[in-house]
Amino acid sequence: MEHLTGRVAFITGGASGIGLGMARAFLEEGMKVAIADWSDDYIAKAREQFSGSNGVHFVKTDVADRQSLGEAAGETLEVFGKIHVLCNNAGVNGGGTAASENFEEWDRAIAINLGGVINGTKIIAPVIRRQGEGGHVVNTSSMAGVVPLPGLGAYSTAKYAVRGFSESLRMQLAKEGIGVSCLFPGATRTAIVPLPEDDPENIKEEGAPPFLKDLWDAMRGAIDPYDTGKAVVAAIKENRFYVFTNREFLEEVKQRHREIEEAFPEDEPTPGRVKFETMRAEMVRNLMAPGNRPVPTKPPRNADADRPVSPAGG
Ligand SMILES: NC(=O)c1ccc[n+]([C@@H]2O[C@H](COP(=O)([O-])OP(=O)(O)OC[C@H]3O[C@@H](n4cnc5c(N)ncnc54)[C@H](O)[C@@H]3O)[C@@H](O)[C@H]2O)c1
Repeated sequence: MEHLTGRVAFITGGASGIGLGMARAFLEEGMKVAIADWSDDYIAKAREQFSGSNGVHFVKTDVADRQSLGEAAGETLEVFGKIHVLCNNAGVNGGGTAASENFEEWDRAIAINLGGVINGTKIIAPVIRRQGEGGHVVNTSSMAGVVPLPGLGAYSTAKYAVRGFSESLRMQLAKEGIGVSCLFPGATRTAIVPLPEDDPENIKEEGAPPFLKDLWDAMRGAIDPYDTGKAVVAAIKENRFYVFTNREFLEEVKQRHREIEEAFPEDEPTPGRVKFETMRAEMVRNLMAPGNRPVPTKPPRNADADRPVSPAGG
């Protein structure tokens, strides 16, 4: 989508952190934004921050609950009439390790971090398709969906799956002029990793394990969520799938890709297999070719009239 002015975004987990950063960046583009979040506290704070803007609507929802998410989408359509950009961004830490015995914690983390992305897409992508004006879906994965960390079994499982889901979605929606991006944040300064200075009562630097202290240090120099929001805007305009914000992972990702390449067998495939996979790969390339995407390039007619005032909080 080259023109964002006057379009409507629906952002899950939009009342804090990266979602809030996207909301700010979208508002600056002249978009209207529905912030869908389950936290009353975060919604109250974000409401204060955007009090000068007439382009924001807040709606309470739990992305793991399909009915609640459907109602949030319905409310947004009542308020703004349309949804063009869907950001499935809500996420939580935790969920336990891959071999832990706790199902409850695991299921809840998967239901939010993966289920929320699937629910949002299955509920709102059909709305975007029916409108026939093009659009974009942005799914928030994580660097833990590319290079997993020990101890983050549930988190990595969900975030890897978000990437696979998004790649498949991208192929399906390309021919309808709806782009898909997948966001892979590394350390980004949000509430998802609270620091001792954020909550001195409950989080103590003293006696904390060295790994945690190093993580806190990384978070102190982490990416500003507003910059992540601007990176998302650029990716939507360029219809770019991969959105990476943290360069410190590049060498590790290269090593991982080398390891994958080196793991392939030496034996030659049969001509039939080669023919089929070459044809399949070409089909996918054609599907993605810019010329084959009927992306509407004209802004909506009333775009300027609809332009909201700029958000408070800069
Ligand atoms: N901050 C980072 O370093 C980092 C790194 C990698 C990935 N991410 C991902 O970025 C996304 C945003 O996280 P953040 O860092 O901005 O954290 P955050 O805690 O600041 O924001 C997450 C938001 O999601 C909302 N939320 C959580 N569960 C929800 C649910 N079930 N329904 C509706 N809203 C819900 C929260 O209320 C909050 O407003 C998440 O998917 C997270 O996994 C963050």
